[in-house]
Amino acid sequence: MEVVIQPSTAAAVELVAEIIAREVQAKPRPVLGLATGRTMESVYTRLVQMHRAERLDFSGCHTFNLDEYVGLPGTDKHSYRHYMNRLFFNQVNIDLRHTHLPHGDARDQSAECERYERLIREAGGIDLQLLGIGQSGHIGFNEPPSEANSRTRVVALAPETIRQNAPLFGADKMPSHAITMGVGTILDSRKCLLLATGKNKATIISRTIEGPVTTSVPASALQLHPYCTIVLDEAAASALTRAARKR
Ligand code: F6R
Repeated sequence: MEVVIQPSTAAAVELVAEIIAREVQAKPRPVLGLATGRTMESVYTRLVQMHRAERLDFSGCHTFNLDEYVGLPGTDKHSYRHYMNRLFFNQVNIDLRHTHLPHGDARDQSAECERYERLIREAGGIDLQLLGIGQSGHIGFNEPPSEANSRTRVVALAPETIRQNAPLFGADKMPSHAITMGVGTILDSRKCLLLATGKNKATIISRTIEGPVTTSVPASALQLHPYCTIVLDEAAASALTRAARKR
């Protein structure tokens, strides 16, 4: 696990966007795993800028998002499909048919989970998986306890996650369940890249990086991944005890 501490949130976002851009340019048909959430919004803003100013070309990309809320169709303004289309896909030259999220409104949810795993396999696996982290220790929506070998499935959201995300739903009711790639699905990616910023992530980041690998901190399973980079700003790194490498 490589931990990179940047002096500011903007610098952390810039580094993550540069790593993604390098991956996009590295092969004709890159397969990206994508994340949503507040932290990622500025990453997508920066990638859109790179597309416009530097002609970063997404035409060959295939993408798989980590998760989607159960019960929400992609047209719902709170769905992650809507988030992705608005902030990223509709702003760059990606082929929408090559962008994938679990269908939160699928009638047969376990068939949908199997379909998603199959699609990832058929695409040749994920080259680079982008990740955020929740205060519960989740990656994707793998709430504790989530096994390191878990696959795409329906999960109940942790109370902390509901507290964290309910404000985004305003007066609307937030779903209690989501379909998420499993921790094992994430670990199958050839590279993982986690971005965490802000003081409210400091404790869970120290447990993820310096604590034991445990199902009660699902993100700690990333310690088992051979190519995992964690990019932090100073605030998110503030509870780490060992000196992490600076770039
Ligand atoms: C969403 C996802 C989640 C978020 C996490 C952090 O696709 O995978 O794990 O990355 O909940 O969310 P923010 O950035 O809003 O703190």
